[in-house]
Amino acid sequence: MRDVVLAPSILSADFGKLGEQVKELSQAGASYVHIDVMDGAFVPTISFGLPVVKTLRSWTDKVFDVHLMVEEPDRFIPDYAAAGADILTVHAESTRHLDRTVRLIRDCGCRAGVAINPATNLQVLEYLLDDVDMVLVMTVNPGFGGQVLIPYCLDKVKKLRQYCEKRGLDLDIEVDGGITHENVQKVIAAGANVIVTGSAVFSGNITDNVHQFLKLF
Ligand code: DX5
Ligand code: ZN
Repeated sequence: MRDVVLAPSILSADFGKLGEQVKELSQAGASYVHIDVMDGAFVPTISFGLPVVKTLRSWTDKVFDVHLMVEEPDRFIPDYAAAGADILTVHAESTRHLDRTVRLIRDCGCRAGVAINPATNLQVLEYLLDDVDMVLVMTVNPGFGGQVLIPYCLDKVKKLRQYCEKRGLDLDIEVDGGITHENVQKVIAAGANVIVTGSAVFSGNITDNVHQFLKLF
C-alpha cells in the first residue's frame, strides 16, 4: 500500500496567521496542505477561494490538496490549477459529467481526486477508478470542521480498498472529517492512506499535534 500521509485542513486555522500556520505545518512534517474551497451552494458555508490559494503558494512547497466543495467545478478547475493546486478533488455529486471533469483536471496538469459524500454509493466510481489518482471518502457531511466521524463511512473505505486490490489498483484513498488522534489508527486499518484532519491539528499546539499524528502512522 502507499505511504500514509497527513493532510491538515486549514479550514480550522487562524485566518489572521494563515501563512505562518501553513509554514509551521510544513516544518512539523505534514506532507500535504488540505485546502477546503466552499461556495455556499454545494455546501451551506463559504470558506475562501483563489486569492488565498495563490497567496499560500509562496509559504510552502508542500503538496496543495484542494478539495472543491462547489457546484459545477469545471468553471474553476483551470484557475485553481494555475494558482498552484497539485491535487484537485471534486465531488461526484457536484458535476453532471464526472468523467469530463476528471479529464479536465488531468488536462490542467493536476492529480485528479473524486470525493463522495457519506450517503453516496461507491458504485459511482466504478468506471472511473482507472482514471483517478485519489478517492476521497467523506467521513462527515461536508461543510464544517469539528464534526464527529460517521462510522459506516469506514466500511466504505474498507470495501473500496478491497475492491482496488482485487483490480490491482494502487490508489490513494483519502478520508476527511472527524479524524482525531484517537481514531486515526482505525481509519488507516480500514485502508485509508491520506488523512485529512482540521480541528485535531489546530486546537492547541500545531507542531505537537502534527508530530503526534505522524507517530501514530
Ligand atoms: C469538511 C471539510 C474538512 C474539515 C475537516 O467539509 O472538508 O476538510 O475541515 O475538519 P475536522 O478534521 O475538524 O473534521
Ligand atoms: Zn476537506
